[in-house]
Amino acid sequence: MADKQAVLRDFCAHVSSGKVAFFERYGMDFVMGRREGIYLWDLEGKKRLINLHCNGGVFNLGHRHPAIRMALHEAMDRYDIGNHHLLSAARARAAALLASLMPADLDYVVFGVSGGEAVDLAIKVARGYTGRTKIVSVRGGYHGHTGYALATGDEKYRAPFGPPLPGFVQVPFHDAEALAAAMTDDTAAVILETIPATLGMPVPSAEYMQAVRRLCDARGVLLILDEVQAGLGRTGKLWAFEHYDILPDMVVLGKGLSGGIYPITATVLRRPLERVFHPDPFVHVSTFGGAEPGCVVMQKVLEITSDPAFLAHVNDMAARIAERMAELLERHAGFLTGFRQKGLMMGLEMVDAYCGPLLTKTAYDHGLLMVYANNDKRVCQFLPPLIIEPHHLDEIFPRLDRALKQARRLRPLLKLRERVGGIFRKEKS
Ligand SMILES: Cc1ncc(COP(=O)(O)O)c(C=O)c1O
Repeated sequence: MADKQAVLRDFCAHVSSGKVAFFERYGMDFVMGRREGIYLWDLEGKKRLINLHCNGGVFNLGHRHPAIRMALHEAMDRYDIGNHHLLSAARARAAALLASLMPADLDYVVFGVSGGEAVDLAIKVARGYTGRTKIVSVRGGYHGHTGYALATGDEKYRAPFGPPLPGFVQVPFHDAEALAAAMTDDTAAVILETIPATLGMPVPSAEYMQAVRRLCDARGVLLILDEVQAGLGRTGKLWAFEHYDILPDMVVLGKGLSGGIYPITATVLRRPLERVFHPDPFVHVSTFGGAEPGCVVMQKVLEITSDPAFLAHVNDMAARIAERMAELLERHAGFLTGFRQKGLMMGLEMVDAYCGPLLTKTAYDHGLLMVYANNDKRVCQFLPPLIIEPHHLDEIFPRLDRALKQARRLRPLLKLRERVGGIFRKEKS
């Protein structure tokens, strides 16, 4: 067994000194060891966490799902990465299955390795197809840390890395008027997360989503929906946009498509958009995008998550959680101020921005891995694996109750410390 201190030393010296310092400061220097289903253990097997974050959906099927492992094993007997320039049976089959599960003419699939790459490609297609440049996104939304994806995001992620790219504008979430005002004749696309995870899972109304579609149609603007987190059954439907009765022009998928085991992402395009690649089909390539073992894994993920019984299970669990959460909302009234939910895409809204980070820590101390929403720190994301069973709730809810109690107790102290710290900072300067 690896020695934890040696791991911390090497990680600090060769991966990220800042991350080690951060996690040590908060007593959360957990190094992942064994993992199975909804659980993960630290390297020494001493601490166990229930994964209620799932890396934003990477572990939709829990850790090391047996059917995914089996699919990958079988793929390893036949495949390697493949050749991204050549034709591929694995890529053709995976794309055909994905297209068959998408509505209308969302027929073409461009594979990638990361969500950011898949978003970048969607923006390239939008610009190439429309001949326009402007991209509108939502403030507080998040689409990744790569080139164009980063440019759609909030300034705090971009500012350290030089001047902003031209052509990108942000509008407030859920504000169709602001969106309309931001659109011009040069607007190529609007990009939205169907439910913005990093903004703390505010669930948009059907009126808003339909207004966005109408505004795009009126101006010949393409609508890109990022379902990297919201897709693949998370909301109780296979695709979150199905709740809104709208058809996007492109859909971006990532995270859970990997089955938690082999990275693969996809940008799904409506049929006419594929014309962008007609003059030069090699104008966009990705060496590892659509690697053949990943295609096999993705097929298995799609088979599992599109099964009506699987989606019924997600909805059943969502209803059970809503019931249990109603009790917590009552018990922690004044601290817990809201519960955001679409299926198992959920966020616990609390009274101020101290609370998200605080609950992340107290939940950790009670054996729950939850992470606050970085663009709205009042909210803790609540994303259990979709394979969660009713009996797991009996483990989770008492822990969550205790974690909330502890967070309530600590919040005034944290505020005080911040104020005192503020005074000291002022005295020093
Ligand atoms: C909604 C959304 N889009 C895109 C991304 C970027 O994905 P990746 O980290 O794989 O580049 C993320 C990552 O968290 C995400 O949550």
